[in-house]
Amino acid sequence: MIDTMTPRDITRQHWIETTNPALEGRLATQFALANGTLGVRGSHEEMPGWGSPGFYLAGTYCAAPQALIPIHTPDHILTHPERVKPEHHADYTTLNTMPNLPNPVAVRLWVGEEHIELEKVSLLACERLLAMETATLSRRLVFRDNAGRRTIVDSERFVSWASPRLVCFRYAVTTEHDAPVRVEPIINTNVANGRGFRLFSVDAETQTPGLNTVTVTTTAPGHTVHIAQAYRVTTDGRTTVLEVAACVGPDADAEAQAAIAAGYDAARAAHVAAVQAATERAGAGFTADGLSMQGFRFAQLHLEMALCQDNPHVGVPIKGLTGDGYRFMVFWDTDFHMFPYYLLTNPAQAKNHILYRYHLLDAARANARAWGYRGAQVPWETGTTGEEETAPWLNLQERELHISADAAYAVKLYDDLTDDPALLVTHGAEIVFETARFFASRVTWTGSRYELRDIGCPDQYHTFADNNIFISRMAQWNLRYAAELAADPRLAGVRLKLGLTDAEAAEFTTIADGLYIIQPNAEGVIEEFDGFFTRSTDLRGISESFCEHSQAVKQPDVLCCFIPFGDEYSQDVQQANWRYYAARTMHGSSLSLPGMALAAAQCGLLDEAWSYFQRAGRMDLDDLNQNTSLGVHLAGYAVMWATLVRGFGGLTPTRDGLTITPRLPAGWRDLHYAAHWRGCRVTVVLTHEALTITADPANPRAVPVTAGGKTVDVMAGETVTVA
Ligand code: BGC
Repeated sequence: MIDTMTPRDITRQHWIETTNPALEGRLATQFALANGTLGVRGSHEEMPGWGSPGFYLAGTYCAAPQALIPIHTPDHILTHPERVKPEHHADYTTLNTMPNLPNPVAVRLWVGEEHIELEKVSLLACERLLAMETATLSRRLVFRDNAGRRTIVDSERFVSWASPRLVCFRYAVTTEHDAPVRVEPIINTNVANGRGFRLFSVDAETQTPGLNTVTVTTTAPGHTVHIAQAYRVTTDGRTTVLEVAACVGPDADAEAQAAIAAGYDAARAAHVAAVQAATERAGAGFTADGLSMQGFRFAQLHLEMALCQDNPHVGVPIKGLTGDGYRFMVFWDTDFHMFPYYLLTNPAQAKNHILYRYHLLDAARANARAWGYRGAQVPWETGTTGEEETAPWLNLQERELHISADAAYAVKLYDDLTDDPALLVTHGAEIVFETARFFASRVTWTGSRYELRDIGCPDQYHTFADNNIFISRMAQWNLRYAAELAADPRLAGVRLKLGLTDAEAAEFTTIADGLYIIQPNAEGVIEEFDGFFTRSTDLRGISESFCEHSQAVKQPDVLCCFIPFGDEYSQDVQQANWRYYAARTMHGSSLSLPGMALAAAQCGLLDEAWSYFQRAGRMDLDDLNQNTSLGVHLAGYAVMWATLVRGFGGLTPTRDGLTITPRLPAGWRDLHYAAHWRGCRVTVVLTHEALTITADPANPRAVPVTAGGKTVDVMAGETVTVA
């Protein structure tokens, strides 16, 4: 419940006092809770017409009409009528998304005879407060009804981190009058996705004392979802308390009833214990200004809330389960930006992402064939089918090629940084070989070199280009890694299965060596793609639909290159590129601000890094890009974490150990993070005076740490301090 006596703490809480319906979309996102399996937007329990509710179940992708998202207008940079290939979307009349399911965090409230509707009563106060340390949302609502009576409602909810299919809330109504109060939970079926599309039909609804249920079937492929809501109401005359446990799945009735029999407090305690365990496992933070600290904590909370536990069949949707923007699709953001977060904080679960891409490999092979290539072309956007689901008018699906290499890159990171060598043999290598095959078939031989022509830059303001630095470097890396793995005798069986000959592996090397990679110019600046430097430097009037002619970029691809390949570029070159692209980056993507922060931290521009880092943390809390209503910007949050750990924290994990080159910003007092490496876990604390590394007592081996010019083996349970 909201504690009105203790002062608010911006570093641990996010709160807003408003009933302005116009803000409801963004607030429902800001106060969303999830556990990777279920997600509930932070909308009001009384379900006002202006509310923005959302209740999502991972993996329930189903068909929506194409009109769910607007087709971009022809002058939009991503739309190029001559390039649209009609055969690829002739029958493209549906898009997949996840349905906004009937919402079980909902009530009907009566005071006396009056049914309380937020639209009709006088709202005197309404505060929502997200407690980030417990992943709970509280709300205090004070209203005067049409008979002039004042009533206070205190509610609290959580999406259980202890029981993946459980959502609980408590709703306490305190009166300052003698009229009776009646409160009933409902499972609200009057909900829809964006643009009003309802993507389920109700098969059955039951209401018995203490238990409500709803069963729905979604649009094709027709998932049946059963939702149960068990509850109990108690009163002491002044305060009426409703406790609700809602569950999803075939056993939901019994699970919800068991939860409510044990009581809200017991379910809450289990949830909070699980949140604390996650903090212990993954916790990171720093001491600086409150806004930055709040932004970072919010970011990490969402990364934790987005990961579906123990499920290798769903990827991390781009906005987690907080909103239906980008239709819950899985993009490169998960492989390239989020995967390192999960790998270094939760390797056992990170493995599921590799398995997810592996399970969809046949679809990626079909995708490559459909575009006329070999191997596996990872779809730019997909849910659980592995089919390419990018809206075709975007022209990105055959052009954002790097995603195939990004998936292979996750395999390499996993193999290097865990003590699970088997995964490479059973699953990982197949991804690497097949994506390398794709690139080998995608390159063009010009007579003197290989090129990657006709690609869409990740920057997305230049969707029709040749030889983008990030794509070409990732492709080259993928080919080389595949060639290296081909020589590994443990992978002979995989090669046999795929028919990968020595000649083909040698060809990977030949193509990688001959692939054209743009080099820094005399000033050290790397051209993003062929001809970028000849584009206009006049950035006046730039917008997403007026940018292709110019050097404006949505997000800085060249700087993104320094994430995997920073070692190969001098600090001067990195700084020159940072300055050059900082002046041209429009931040149309949420990856952009933290990307600039990470790149700045990595090349020692610490003030700049902090400034971008701080802004990145406000992406959703201050709705910087005016699209928070569609869900949080998860991948940007992963890049923020990377900025803290890799950038400021200076961590470079390799197969051989951890190297730490601290770069604490002058205005920060300290920072800390946990990192998992090859079956071990260490915590790192950095101040301006010292670096302290503590190894878990349970670590199976020593962790080699290189810092301050020395390498030390940090033994299990040991703490080492480097001045
Ligand atoms: C970015 C892409 C990203 C997508 C989903 C776009 O704005 O340009 O790089 O994959 O958002 O986050």
